[in-house]
Amino acid sequence: MIRVGIVGLGYWGPNLVRCFSEFDNCKVTAVCDQSRDQLLRIKSRYPGVIPVENFSTLLDRDLVDAVVIATPTATHFELASKALAHDLHVFVEKPLSKSTAECEKLVALAAERNRVLFVGHVFLHSAPVQKLRELILAGELGNLTYISSRRLNLGPVRKDVSALYDLAPHDISMMLYLLGQQPEKVTCTGLAHLNPAIHDVCNLTMHFKGNKMGMIHVSWLDPHKERLLTVVGDKKMAVYDDLAQEKIKVYDKGIDTPPPSSDFAEFQISYRYGGSFCPWVQEKEPLKAECADFIRCICEGDIPHTDGVNGYQVTAVLEAAHVSLLSGGHPVQLQPMRLLGETTNDKDAAAQTKAVIK
Ligand SMILES: NC(=O)c1ccc[n+]([C@@H]2O[C@H](COP(=O)([O-])OP(=O)(O)OC[C@H]3O[C@@H](n4cnc5c(N)ncnc54)[C@H](O)[C@@H]3O)[C@@H](O)[C@H]2O)c1
Repeated sequence: MIRVGIVGLGYWGPNLVRCFSEFDNCKVTAVCDQSRDQLLRIKSRYPGVIPVENFSTLLDRDLVDAVVIATPTATHFELASKALAHDLHVFVEKPLSKSTAECEKLVALAAERNRVLFVGHVFLHSAPVQKLRELILAGELGNLTYISSRRLNLGPVRKDVSALYDLAPHDISMMLYLLGQQPEKVTCTGLAHLNPAIHDVCNLTMHFKGNKMGMIHVSWLDPHKERLLTVVGDKKMAVYDDLAQEKIKVYDKGIDTPPPSSDFAEFQISYRYGGSFCPWVQEKEPLKAECADFIRCICEGDIPHTDGVNGYQVTAVLEAAHVSLLSGGHPVQLQPMRLLGETTNDKDAAAQTKAVIK
């Protein structure tokens, strides 16, 4: 039985407490938050858990085998490294950290201590995203051209990180997963309206090998809630609307071009307006699937798909995008980089990146 401690009981943490409390192979033994009110709120709902105000107390009292960190992003590195140093398995909410340097250290520490380092890229555990990946791998959409996404709402406004760091990790993780590669270059522009130091609206463009592109529009200053991702292939196109009943819709639409010809008059494009269909997608709660995968990886000694390296890859894009954002939208190149030591879990080192402004 894996003993789990959950740290950070604000907006998101209670969802994690609920999910981990529903499994047979683990038990939420302790919860931790600096706020006594949050602790009392959870304690009243889950009387069996031990509430702890101080994270170091949680570690020192040998209450848990694994910790789940759902505190603000700026605290992730400190809490995760302390937990790994205590030989605990660690689940960190997205993004793993604000900097790739910190992600590298966490990946190295997890490898050194032989512990699972798991990152909360929850959409990689969602059935619609897995269905999209299935369609892409089966060649249903043809050669992918671009993916675009919109993650908009009125709030919740963050005080510690921009909309880029708060919202875009979801879309970045999905696009890297669906395209199966890291971008070579990113550009990002945005607007800081409510607080001059924090961008409320961001537009991120990622350029991938093979003339592919990923575009992400995130905002917490929008009247309309949208969670939309469009995948355009040269054969078919698919739309994932996370707010719709039927989440994936595949369109047999496209534009066909004849082979290149020297005779300009012969060049004619034809538009294809075929039908559309909604493939069956198994209903499951992504967060619960994600929590179950963390426990499974601990029990089976498996490497999670959303491991520290995956967390590093998403942070590498955020870091580069942030540099671009502050430069007013200049392109920022992501350089291939090897992680320290034997920490990469046999993943392609070329897929790991570091931001360099061009
Ligand atoms: N996967 C998702 O869809 C999703 C959704 C929302 C938030 N998140 C992530 O969850 C994390 C938390 O977000 P939130 O919206 O719940 O934030 P929040 O501000 O509502 O809650 C954070 C909580 O952490 C506590 N805290 C802060 N520092 C602490 C420390 N050192 N020790 C103990 N407790 C501490 C605070 O008292 C607060 O209760 C962030 O990383 C965020 O990106 C993920």
